[in-house]
Amino acid sequence: MMDRFMLLLLIFLSGNTCPEETVSGLTFPLTVIGQISYSTQLCPPGTPSAGNPMALAECLSSTLFHGFGGLKLLDCGLNLEAFESKVNGTLEENMFVASSVQMLTSKPEQLTSQNITSAATIVNNLLSATMLNESVAESVVATISQLMHTDEDQYSEDTYDALESLTKTLEDFALNMSNFNSNVLVQPNLAVQSIKLSNWTSQVQFYAVTGLSQNSPERIGQTLSGNASNMTSSSGRPIDLLLTIKLQNESQKDWGNRNLSIGVVLYENDRFFNSKLFNSELDTKRRVVAASLTDKNFLDNVEFAMWPENISSSTSYDFACVFWDYTHRDWRTEGCVKILDSTGVHCECNHTTNFAVLVSFRADYTYSEALNWISIVGCSLSIVGLVLTAVYQIKTRKQRGGNSTMLLVNICLCMTTYYLLFIFGINNPVQSSKASEQNVIPSSDLLQTVDQGPCTAITALLQYFLLATFAWNILYAAHVFFLIRNALNGPPRAFRTIAVTVGWGLPAVIVGISLSTTYSFRNPLGYRQEEFCWLASLDKTGRFDPKRPMLWGFLLPLAVMLCFNISLLVYFSQTICCGNPNLKSSRSTPMKKKILSCFSLAVVLGLSWVIGYFVLITHDKTLYIILSVVFCLCNTTQGVQIFILFTLQSFLKTRTRYKLDSKTESKGGP
Ligand SMILES: *[C@@H]1O[C@H](CO)[C@@H](O)[C@H](O)[C@H]1NC(C)=O
Ligand SMILES: *[C@@H]1O[C@H](CO)[C@@H](O)[C@H](O)[C@H]1NC(C)=O
Ligand SMILES: *[C@@H]1O[C@H](CO)[C@@H](O)[C@H](O)[C@H]1NC(C)=O
Ligand SMILES: *[C@@H]1O[C@H](CO)[C@@H](O)[C@H](O)[C@H]1NC(C)=O
Ligand SMILES: *[C@@H]1O[C@H](CO)[C@@H](O)[C@H](O)[C@H]1NC(C)=O
Ligand SMILES: *[C@@H]1O[C@H](CO)[C@@H](O)[C@H](O)[C@H]1NC(C)=O
Ligand SMILES: *[C@@H]1O[C@H](CO)[C@@H](O)[C@H](O)[C@H]1NC(C)=O
Ligand SMILES: *[C@@H]1O[C@H](CO)[C@@H](O)[C@H](O)[C@H]1NC(C)=O
Ligand SMILES: *[C@@H]1O[C@H](CO)[C@@H](O)[C@H](O)[C@H]1NC(C)=O
Ligand SMILES: *[C@@H]1O[C@H](CO)[C@@H](O)[C@H](O)[C@H]1NC(C)=O
Ligand SMILES: *[C@@H]1O[C@H](CO)[C@@H](O)[C@H](O)[C@H]1NC(C)=O
Repeated sequence: MMDRFMLLLLIFLSGNTCPEETVSGLTFPLTVIGQISYSTQLCPPGTPSAGNPMALAECLSSTLFHGFGGLKLLDCGLNLEAFESKVNGTLEENMFVASSVQMLTSKPEQLTSQNITSAATIVNNLLSATMLNESVAESVVATISQLMHTDEDQYSEDTYDALESLTKTLEDFALNMSNFNSNVLVQPNLAVQSIKLSNWTSQVQFYAVTGLSQNSPERIGQTLSGNASNMTSSSGRPIDLLLTIKLQNESQKDWGNRNLSIGVVLYENDRFFNSKLFNSELDTKRRVVAASLTDKNFLDNVEFAMWPENISSSTSYDFACVFWDYTHRDWRTEGCVKILDSTGVHCECNHTTNFAVLVSFRADYTYSEALNWISIVGCSLSIVGLVLTAVYQIKTRKQRGGNSTMLLVNICLCMTTYYLLFIFGINNPVQSSKASEQNVIPSSDLLQTVDQGPCTAITALLQYFLLATFAWNILYAAHVFFLIRNALNGPPRAFRTIAVTVGWGLPAVIVGISLSTTYSFRNPLGYRQEEFCWLASLDKTGRFDPKRPMLWGFLLPLAVMLCFNISLLVYFSQTICCGNPNLKSSRSTPMKKKILSCFSLAVVLGLSWVIGYFVLITHDKTLYIILSVVFCLCNTTQGVQIFILFTLQSFLKTRTRYKLDSKTESKGGP
């Protein structure tokens, strides 16, 4: 076992410049958290506190001298539970408990529910003990900062009880801290500051400075009756939190010889506050700031301004100014008002306690105008083309036979409907209402509005008619397959009945499953997107979510269809190139016509959707744009292509034939 001297030597050998320099080279066995260096020498396996550092040394930094303060050792035979009963001792004993608990919580992500509860109870007792000096307090604040890194999934009701009680004690402790020499303690997740007023002043401001290293004491500051209202600190650095405590004018008269203490606690996250009203679905981080006064009667009001954190692909939408109500054990808004202005979020409350700002975000949408115009023009032309094709097919059905006409007409019908839905319905006509002026707690950090307007219906219809188009594409392919394989008899007798059932029934089943598993009136965004009336594909953080209906309700059926159709196209081209005895006419078919036939088949089978898959998997920006435009062009003009290949071409052919009065041909399209 390493002895005390060796540990000390190891720490001092690492040089007297701390903390960054000691870790960067990794030459010396030290890990640094905040202003504390923990030894990498750990308690051996098998001991109750196995895996925790055996020693810590405080990093003392002043302008003249950087070095380590006194070394504290851990008794590896004791764990957190064992320390719970050891908190009523002398200053020395409390110091030992405080530093031991600090070491035992130095790996916060490994702590169990029981460990966290014990640690919270111990530090709570230490802070309220009469035997408390600055060193103990500093160690305790460091421990609490570490506890703010613990895994929230481990928190039980007992843990929340202990943590909530700890926040109360911290509020009182912040007031008592004005008795210490230094009136500020700063740790990565927690800062405590206090001030003692002996003369009256109209207001006291506290602020947090942006961009300073997490444990820099200058990170939190205060100005007496000062003016940080233009959001710069006295040192000229930008600030990201401002708390102004305003005192009553009348209190000036009866101030007398009194000393008023004001304490502020700043939590970098809200893990200790277990709200049931507000859910954090986006895993956003909220700061909580607590203000307290020794004499609450002097208070006029408290104003605070904070900047919500930036969430990628979301913008803040609404917010509520809240305080923690210990009786209801949740955030409440009574006595607080929100002030709407352009700079950040701004609140005012007529009482003190733990304040927070609950922000709800909404997703950002990007949206391409160019594609939009391509789509509208292409779709309109396609609709005209498809209607003409359908009419022409019905008129000339005798040349082709019933099945072929029925299939093509159904494809045209489905495509016309989805083009119409696409043009008139894809943009959600109902935009969500603006942020409210009322100070109301949002239910979550992700904006949720109940379903209104026709958007869900349009999404369902779009999904239905697109799937129906694919279903009919497959049936068309199957029909072609039967024709090639079995030219004399054609497809089986029941083909028509099966086709109608599958073509119109299968999409309905898929749409029904999608709706019933993902849609709810209160949260329609499980099924569709907000800005567009189309299937939801991304999760709350903007990543592709396989549980959303876009994947299994659309992309998968499409992929099955494409695989089937591609194999058919290969089979078809092979047949007409290499000559199939079943297709008698193919021997005399010229090359140009063969290619045209394959192309027509590819178009009617919807193979341009393959490009869509390349769009999905492309990461290269330029390629992505090119592919998107090609995809958009191909798909929006698919109706036009069908018209040209199936109607215009054979119409012209018929006319030419008519003029030349040549012999009739039995086959129309491919
Ligand atoms: C954490 O709790 C477990 C039991 O839940 C215990 O075995 C372990 O020693 C505790 N760890 C510390 C550091 O106290
Ligand atoms: C600490 O001591 C006080 C009085 O000496 C006693 O009331 C309190 O219960 C003790 N606390 C603990 C945790 O032992
Ligand atoms: C606090 O008390 C401990 C234990 O007696 C002592 O080592 C430490 O120097 C004290 N700190 C201050 C700032 O007086
Ligand atoms: C604050 O300090 C005063 C006296 O210095 C003491 O009576 C009081 O109990 C302390 N409060 C807390 C919460 O430690
Ligand atoms: C408080 O006011 C008195 C008299 O007006 C003055 O002498 C004293 O310096 C002031 N104290 C502070 C801390 O400003
Ligand atoms: C603080 O500064 C603002 C302008 O930056 C000014 O309007 C306001 O009067 C100042 N307040 C005080 C108390 O000096
Ligand atoms: C903010 O106030 C400081 C001093 O009070 C001043 O130097 C600075 O120019 C002000 N900044 C702006 C943007 O008004
Ligand atoms: C206190 O006095 C200031 C000016 O000295 C004034 O602006 C403010 O409105 C007064 N507050 C109250 C509550 O009377
Ligand atoms: C206020 O503090 C000063 C010095 O810190 C002290 O002399 C004075 O007695 C205190 N007044 C009261 C009422 O505690
Ligand atoms: C968020 O982003 C905006 C502009 O991009 C910036 O002005 C602001 O300071 C950022 N806020 C935070 C908390 O990073
Ligand atoms: C704060 O304001 C609310 C209503 O705005 C009021 O009911 C409450 O009494 C006020 N509290 C204080 C301490 O002034």
